[in-house]
Amino acid sequence: MKVLITGGAGFIGSHLVRLWLREQPSISIVNLDKLTYSGDLARLEEVGADRRYRFFQGDVCDASAVDEAMEGCEGIVHLAAETHVDRSLLDGKAFIDTNAYGTYVLLETARKKGVKKFLTVSTDEVYGSREKGHFTEKDPLNPTSPYSITKAAADFLTQSYAATYGLHAVVTRGSNTFGPFQYPEKVIPLFVSKALSGKKLPLYGDGLHVRNWLAVEDHCRAILLAFRKGRKGEAYNISSDTEMTNRELTRRILKLLDKPASCIQPVKDRPGHDRRYAISSRKLRALGWKERFPFEEALRDTVQWYCQNVSWWKSIVEKSRDFRTYYAKAYGNG
Ligand code: NAD
Ligand code: TYD
Repeated sequence: MKVLITGGAGFIGSHLVRLWLREQPSISIVNLDKLTYSGDLARLEEVGADRRYRFFQGDVCDASAVDEAMEGCEGIVHLAAETHVDRSLLDGKAFIDTNAYGTYVLLETARKKGVKKFLTVSTDEVYGSREKGHFTEKDPLNPTSPYSITKAAADFLTQSYAATYGLHAVVTRGSNTFGPFQYPEKVIPLFVSKALSGKKLPLYGDGLHVRNWLAVEDHCRAILLAFRKGRKGEAYNISSDTEMTNRELTRRILKLLDKPASCIQPVKDRPGHDRRYAISSRKLRALGWKERFPFEEALRDTVQWYCQNVSWWKSIVEKSRDFRTYYAKAYGNG
């Protein structure tokens, strides 16, 4: 089977490309990626020479590029997105373009070409925040940030193509994902890289916001299962058993790095900061998914990976300084 993966040069997409090629000899993958600030082909070095893999640089908003990249593909796994909440607070335009309009272009092209399966990788953030309990796929979506609102647009659009045009479209809603090669603006790689550089770790607000943490390979296996077995028009939550406050997460990172708690710098909260994300993944577990990587182990391996791959994240941190400065000026919490 030939599939199109969008955003395959990103954090989760690159893990998915590598995992799929490793585990399914008959698969052939076209990776459509614009290579925005967060895309990086270094993540895909090990598959660069694989004859079953082809890279196609292009924008999901560009209908002719999408048409060309999708030629001959029977399935689509769509991950390309603008992904960082803090960036969406500064400027939402790219989020609306890529996440909403780009998804429409992909769906429309897939429909016209008679693609067999289309999976959109959505997020737990589309449900919004809740203090107790867990959202199921039947709950209404209540997104709050420009990021989660545009992801919800992609999510709804995907489901609408199943309902309206009969496209075999499926959505996955994953929780906060971590692992090697994550762009160092997301909290785990940001805090590890700051600590390793002798800098303070900017913990937003009271640090009691809660997130569910999912190892990247577990997330990828869940996407593959939903692609294989997911029912047309259905959404599937993906979450682990591990939820914790940001304060507790930060404490564990510092412990692994043998750094003192004084490295933490409480800073002004993120505007509209969702207090807690919590979803039930019972529906996907019923299809046979369960996580393989216990949180402590995966966090330890991830921290170790960042310790061993300093040159990869250092060059990115250098380039992304503008964003942090700009963000700090706007919100006083860089
Ligand atoms: P990422 O920012 O690391 O990667 C995004 C990729 O998309 C990059 O390679 C980028 O170049 C590409 N891209 C961006 N705009 C594009 C465009 N217009 N055309 C083509 N390519 C474009 O993101 P990630 O963390 O790997 O997330 C991947 C997907 O998973 C996203 O859809 C995200 O919403 C979703 N998700 C992420 C998490 C998480 O914790 N990281 C959790 C749940 C869901
Ligand atoms: P992040 O990795 O940006 O993911 P998301 O906002 O999509 O959940 O942030 C995870 C949590 O960490 C979130 O509650 C915000 C918090 N956070 C900080 O406290 N400081 C930081 O510098 C960043 C980037 C995030």
